[in-house]
Amino acid sequence: MKDLTPPKDSLNPIEIASRDEIAALQLERMKWSLRHAYENVAHYKAAFDAKGVHPDDLKTLADLAKFPFTTKLDLRANYPFGMFAVPREQVARIHASSGTTGQPTVVGYTERDLKVWGEVVARSLRASGLKPGDLLHNAYGYGLFTGGLGIHLGADALGLTTVPISGGMTQRQVRLIEDFRPKGITVTPSYALSILDEYAAQGLDPRQSPLQVGIFGAEPWTNAMRREIEDAFDMHAVDIYGLSEVMGPGVANECVETKDGLHIWEDHFYPEIIDPVTGEVLPDGEMGELVFTSLSKEAFPIIRYRTRDLTRLLPGTARSMRRMEKITGRSDDMIILRGVNVFPTQIEEQLMEVKALAPHFQIELSRPDRMDQMRILTEAAQGSEAVEARAVAAKDLAHRIKSIIGISVKVDVADPGGVERSQGKAVRILDKRPKD
Ligand code: DLL
Repeated sequence: MKDLTPPKDSLNPIEIASRDEIAALQLERMKWSLRHAYENVAHYKAAFDAKGVHPDDLKTLADLAKFPFTTKLDLRANYPFGMFAVPREQVARIHASSGTTGQPTVVGYTERDLKVWGEVVARSLRASGLKPGDLLHNAYGYGLFTGGLGIHLGADALGLTTVPISGGMTQRQVRLIEDFRPKGITVTPSYALSILDEYAAQGLDPRQSPLQVGIFGAEPWTNAMRREIEDAFDMHAVDIYGLSEVMGPGVANECVETKDGLHIWEDHFYPEIIDPVTGEVLPDGEMGELVFTSLSKEAFPIIRYRTRDLTRLLPGTARSMRRMEKITGRSDDMIILRGVNVFPTQIEEQLMEVKALAPHFQIELSRPDRMDQMRILTEAAQGSEAVEARAVAAKDLAHRIKSIIGISVKVDVADPGGVERSQGKAVRILDKRPKD
């Protein structure tokens, strides 16, 4: 793999500013953001008043803990445009979550918000090793989802040549990668695996592909998966994080030279980690739920938004801004199996250790005889299809899960290609338990 470290002088000075400078900027912007939300969004005025706090009560960054949280329920209650802080006419763009589990969450951006979004995504792409003039294959979905258009904004801001292919039509993805020779690819890690399958199906060697870096996010993935993808394509794999409620992709990104967690672009998004049960703010280094406050957004300011993503905050390394560890999972995706908490990422880690299995899986939950059971559906790697090899692999995985995670599971190993493929975010959990 080539060294893709960006030259220091190409960075925005704030990325490597002192902590004091960053904190001073954050405080100034936080005051503005709280006031902007309070004065222009009825929900925030009511929520602050109910808690007996006023934007003037914020004297230090730690005072943020006095302010109320915002949850997805608040956004739903104000559907569609009730959380906007500017007249609708000043909103230049709208995005929305898919809403498969309820009402979609609608977010808006002014022209200036789009400019800031472009800047933070450009920063993310540069941290990933891309530079002006490079070619980018953008396979995140275009549309209401923020992935495709968000990356596109940043690619334009950095001065890349963008191929806006979006998700799907996997054969064509491979064809265009081979013909156009992009240096970078932006895609979910699970869809990258589908592209990898297609390389094999076309008899092409992915290690000979032109790709030098993949920028993966929108769903949890592990360091074990990173090694698998880096080895398969002979390219760097870095992590990009974001969520529509806070902006979209580009809230945080790993640096290609360190790959040690994601630097949060703290000059625009202020992070806190809280105890998900008590709501208490936890010190850096402790694991909990990630909460964000936007510092510069005009159309859709967001105050103390509970992401439900679990991680911890770590000090800066390649940049002075703090890092978040790779996301362990969403609290909604935590499975409690007979008293043990399990995240799909833990299953992924163990699966990657079994070489006779392909890196595709789904977790099925059922409740026969009133006892929750977990079945892992995975598939044989190419060359390990024989019945005996599969049985050994299934036993190996079940044993690892039992001894490391502490739960008994059933493992079923399908033929290669037997697990449903993703074209965007993978569906990891199939919950067949009766709803009570
Ligand atoms: O997934 C934005 C995005 C697009 C990020 C492309 C990165 C790349 P939403 O659809 O609103 O936005 O989903 C946000 O996805 O709360 C996390 O649970 C999850 N997520 C996003 N990035 C990561 C990541 C986009 N790098 C939700 N690791 C978030 C783990 C991630 N989970």
